[in-house]
Amino acid sequence: MARKKISIIGAGFVGATAAHWAAAKELGDIVLVDILEGIPQGKALDLFEASPIEGFDAKVIGTNTYEETKGSDIVIITSGVPRKPGMSREDLLDINRKIIESVVAEVMAKSPNAILLMVTNPLDTMTYLAFKKSGLPRERVIGMAGVLDTARYRAFIAMELGVSVEDIQAVLLGGHGDEMVPLPRYTTISGIPLSQFLPKDKIDKLVDRTRKGGGEIVNLLKTGSAFYAPSAGAVQMAEAILKDKKRILPCCVYLKGEYGLNDICFGVPVKLGETGVESIIELELTGEEKVLVAKSAESVKKSILELKL
Ligand code: NAI
Ligand code: 2OP
Repeated sequence: MARKKISIIGAGFVGATAAHWAAAKELGDIVLVDILEGIPQGKALDLFEASPIEGFDAKVIGTNTYEETKGSDIVIITSGVPRKPGMSREDLLDINRKIIESVVAEVMAKSPNAILLMVTNPLDTMTYLAFKKSGLPRERVIGMAGVLDTARYRAFIAMELGVSVEDIQAVLLGGHGDEMVPLPRYTTISGIPLSQFLPKDKIDKLVDRTRKGGGEIVNLLKTGSAFYAPSAGAVQMAEAILKDKKRILPCCVYLKGEYGLNDICFGVPVKLGETGVESIIELELTGEEKVLVAKSAESVKKSILELKL
């Protein structure tokens, strides 16, 4: 069986770390692309030199062109500028849209059958841009944010309760901004509702920390944003697709009426398998949850309008 090909555009913190996780999981051959000369080549060679130690068989190629990306099964797009303290994800829109437009054109010319996994911020807007510019069906242009945001939420719950992260299941809706909507009502610990473990005021604090989770890391790092958990999130989605695992994960996808929303890329739970998004799961929401989702959708819509497509 031929190995799968995963191309990663942007060999910065998120891209290079995604290459690391993907190689360690032996998901396939990896091509790292960046505009900086020597950086993707150096990181790819260094990662390949780890393979005898870690025992993974994968080609790892670094390049400044798209030739080697030809026929990719999955393309993870991380190229773009990250935020610094004081910046919101939206502040990145103008600069990153130009990068995404040119990258998507290059990627599509070489890999028209690929599934695109978007990471660049502002995530929902860049996913929308990639969806519109690629001409791909919505099943094949998927943004990574919900996996990261729920991972943060699960991590904070595990820290609070002193239980295994593995036993915490959670889902979250909405855009990748501070108005994202973690759903405590759908959060369980080994099937037991979170409300049996924590009072409402404690849960509210964990939800608030989750919403601001990206900013918490930016304020600590000062020179950039999170990359271990984001890259792990993108690779978990790639694995679900490449292994046809049919995982249910919160992902950013183009909506056509689901949750009462149209013409927007937004975080919702989906089933991920070999064709990409195989179905969108519509949760029953309370009136209060609907209001929060509408507020998040409003801010994503506002950002999408700035693209003036
Ligand atoms: P970084 O600055 O370390 O890496 C970005 C890389 O993209 C750089 O190496 C740069 O040379 C490259 N690049 C710029 N223009 C390019 C082009 N036209 N073609 C190819 N490569 C190009 O930034 P980092 O930390 O890796 O973050 C990347 C992006 O991911 C940022 O926009 C950040 O906000 C976003 N992000 C999104 C998350 C999410 O949950 N969706 C989480 C974490 C980061
Ligand atoms: C994060 O949430 C910056 O979007 C990035 O860490």
